[in-house]
Amino acid sequence: MNMPAEPKAPEKQEEKNPVSRRDFLNEIAGGALTIAGLGAAVVTVKYASPNVLFEPPTTFRAGSPDDYPVNSVTYLQDQQVYVVRTDRGMWAMSAVCTHLGCITQWKPDSSQIACPCHGSKFQRTGGVEAGPAPRPLPHFSLVLGEDGTLVVDKLEVVMETEILKV
Ligand code: FES
Repeated sequence: MNMPAEPKAPEKQEEKNPVSRRDFLNEIAGGALTIAGLGAAVVTVKYASPNVLFEPPTTFRAGSPDDYPVNSVTYLQDQQVYVVRTDRGMWAMSAVCTHLGCITQWKPDSSQIACPCHGSKFQRTGGVEAGPAPRPLPHFSLVLGEDGTLVVDKLEVVMETEILKV
């Protein structure tokens, strides 16, 4: 027996919900306001945070005096400082040329410190042998710390005659 086929239910049509022009413009305006608000918040936080420049410490340890043989000039690259040891004692001095600030180089063959930029030459005591450098290389405070290691203070410039006896 054939049953009559039940009529199929009409397929549900998805309700289309077209975005109206007004909604679209509202969405865009909301997005723009959010971006502007975030930008303002970032600028405000940056403005409120302290604008401090953190510089590396000027005092550093330079190891043991035994690390420096007598009659040696040792360049400490990370500090741009020479540690010089002679039979009279030790001193530390800047490796920065007093002309325009280039980094000088120790030349053991000629026993001179030479600047590669404009040709200044310095003695190992820092004195100027040839210009255009206007001043000697400054000496820095060099002392023995309590633990027996050398301590250099690049903020304290001392006389060339201040030599650490070791
Ligand atoms: S910077 Fe050294 S001689 Fe000019």
